[in-house]
Amino acid sequence: MNILYIGSGFVGACSAAVSADSGHQTLVYDVDKRKIELLSSGDRDTIQSCLFEEGLGDLIIRNHDKIRFTTDYNQVVDFLTDCDAVFMCLPTPEIGETGESDLSFYFSAAEKLSHSLLKRNNSDQKQYIVIVNKSTVPVDMVDKTQEIMEKAGVKNFGVVSNPEFLVEGKAIQGSLHPDRVVVGAWQEKDFQIMRQIYQRFVNAANIQYVEVNPKEAAAGKLLANFTLFNKLAICFDVIGRTCETFSDLSFENLRKILITDPRIGSWGLYDSLYAGGSCFIKDARSLAHQLQTAGQNATLVNETYLANRRQLELFLGRAEKEVLRPAQDKTKFDWTGKTVALLGLAFKQGTNDTRNSPSIDIVNFLLEKQVGEIRCYDPAAMEWFEKIFQEPKQIKYCKSEAECLSRRIPPLTPLRGGNSEPDVVIIATDWPQFRGVGDLLLKLKNRPLVMDGRRILQHQYDDLIKNGFIVIAVGSPLKKL
Ligand SMILES: NC(=O)c1ccc[n+]([C@@H]2O[C@H](COP(=O)([O-])OP(=O)(O)OC[C@H]3O[C@@H](n4cnc5c(N)ncnc54)[C@H](O)[C@@H]3O)[C@@H](O)[C@H]2O)c1
Repeated sequence: MNILYIGSGFVGACSAAVSADSGHQTLVYDVDKRKIELLSSGDRDTIQSCLFEEGLGDLIIRNHDKIRFTTDYNQVVDFLTDCDAVFMCLPTPEIGETGESDLSFYFSAAEKLSHSLLKRNNSDQKQYIVIVNKSTVPVDMVDKTQEIMEKAGVKNFGVVSNPEFLVEGKAIQGSLHPDRVVVGAWQEKDFQIMRQIYQRFVNAANIQYVEVNPKEAAAGKLLANFTLFNKLAICFDVIGRTCETFSDLSFENLRKILITDPRIGSWGLYDSLYAGGSCFIKDARSLAHQLQTAGQNATLVNETYLANRRQLELFLGRAEKEVLRPAQDKTKFDWTGKTVALLGLAFKQGTNDTRNSPSIDIVNFLLEKQVGEIRCYDPAAMEWFEKIFQEPKQIKYCKSEAECLSRRIPPLTPLRGGNSEPDVVIIATDWPQFRGVGDLLLKLKNRPLVMDGRRILQHQYDDLIKNGFIVIAVGSPLKKL
């Protein structure tokens, strides 16, 4: 089949690559020239410098004869002549802090598409086409898409909702072997086309191929994300908080007790400083907004969002609240002038995505507290984070976690702390390599305050404390000798 993808972000690029791998001819259109250049480079590392997803580069290169990337809309218009489906993979961020989804990217792409669809097959529009929504959108989006097409005079089309359930960091693996494929359509004709597109999944073992109506599909995506987000909030704000509050409770032991009940399950029962990323927060906000607009109560949805925010604020506030300076002057910890090593900038391991990364809020918090220097490192997300924070002179980008912790980081800076070991080390992302940070810490002369936002050093907490470190970890009370 011939399939057009509009939007070549995590969802568009990964879905198109999997589609090409399934034997379809795909064209991917995006307005972002740089992204399209990188994705069309034919070089694995260059592709993945743009979208850091394991396997994406190889899949695109392997299927180079079935996937094209373009910013040239004339190519889109040509492709539409014989196109079976258009997948809309556009961003749907929150408008400010309103909860409402910003559908302007979607509408602008859909309107442009509608005018081109009118012209297909020398304007007689004989080729039937489905417009498939992959973005996460409000429940009634199918009606709006239909309206845009009808208003322009588009004929011979169907509108389908096919929400994306990929998990960033495992997008390719997840798209090649999904748990489920959800297709929402009103007509059998559209289901048939989607079954052809997803032939490899329709009767596959271990994959649920779910056919529902388009509103159920859109609502199902929002509710699935809310359920997962709520589970994380329970872990952070109830289970983790209980372990932080009472002595002699190990988070890992309590986790064991909980996950042995299959009704509870293990997903999400890892304590963390924040659930970031582009989806959970905005989708919960959108769900709450839609419920409230319809006159319903959305307290639990809103509280889930607030619990996540609270988690980060409480974590960052713990140094001032809980740490006293040793010895005689029992004054509180003060961030002013401190050198801070911030390990991890992506919102989670396995991705270079910094959207809603806790590290953005952490850097803003540290700048407000007037720290002397912030040394940042992430194995994948440095370039993207640098785009967010180019200005502040306090921020230094290091080449490794070891460099962040070392005494002299090049180039030497006149700022206080520029040639000293850090005073505080914050671990914000669960990159597996950060499990080794404990060994680096033990070699330091200084004894920086360790703030473990992922419990990634929990195998070494005892060792660190014995060696004079103070450790603040999510899911534990303050630890010190
Ligand atoms: N990232 C995820 O893990 C994930 C998972 C499931 C669902 N989703 C949903 O899928 C949608 C897309 O998410 P994403 O992460 O791929 O977003 P993204 O920001 O990574 O990519 C969106 C792309 O659309 C492009 N774009 C914007 N306006 C355009 C236009 N008019 N024409 C063509 N291209 C345009 C942007 O340049 C960008 O490359 C969102 O609704 C998101 O909520 C995302």
